[in-house]
Amino acid sequence: MHGPPGSGKGTQAQLLSQKLGLRHISSGQLLREEIQKGGRRAEIISSFQSRGELVPFETLLDVLEPVILDSHSGFILDGTPRDLRQAEHLDWFLNKHHLKLSKFIFLSIPDHVSIDRLLKRAQIEHRPDDTYETIKHRFEVYHHETEPVIRFYRQQGIVLEIDGTPTVEAIHRAIINQLTTV
Ligand code: AP5
Ligand code: MG
Repeated sequence: MHGPPGSGKGTQAQLLSQKLGLRHISSGQLLREEIQKGGRRAEIISSFQSRGELVPFETLLDVLEPVILDSHSGFILDGTPRDLRQAEHLDWFLNKHHLKLSKFIFLSIPDHVSIDRLLKRAQIEHRPDDTYETIKHRFEVYHHETEPVIRFYRQQGIVLEIDGTPTVEAIHRAIINQLTTV
């Protein structure tokens, strides 16, 4: 599940994982849980995540890869890969374990719509990276580092581009429709 901050990756991945019986693997959430454990790794993750920067490659892999390998009935990745290096590595890693991504769901949405959602969420959930300044930086990182990943998967012919602006239920239906018609 791919898209800019606040595009609904977590919301849609959760619904889809329930519908299809797949594990929802949110890299952002795994990293947040890792921070709760404390220690040196938690400090590193927190220092990047709270600024809206990508967490270092090796740290991400240490946290993410064991969870992928533990997801025997299949999984939905939410928020990874986040740059071309991660995308290329993920292909290599999955291939090595006889796995592959079957679809790449891209939630397409104008920045201002997602920013409004995140500012609303900030009032309720208090995620440390949901401040106005950090949200702005997360979008810079998204457009600069993460967006090129879409082209990588277009070349593999597995991208499903979904309008991320309607209601949660309408988006979910659109994803299911696309998955069953292509
Ligand atoms: P991550 O946790 O992935 O955050 P994000 O990409 O910024 O996206 P969000 O989780 O904020 O939004 P979302 O798209 O999941 O939308 P949601 O469903 O919540 O990453 C956070 C950080 O972790 C990164 O900045 C980085 O530091 C680090 N990180 C993560 N992965 C990494 C990686 N691979 N490599 C390196 N670092 C990594 O919805 C947003 C809000 O809108 C919610 O309140 C929701 O209720 C609402 N909403 C959802 N859908 C709708 C709708 N259709 N209509 C109205 N409201 C809606
Ligand atoms: Mg999320």
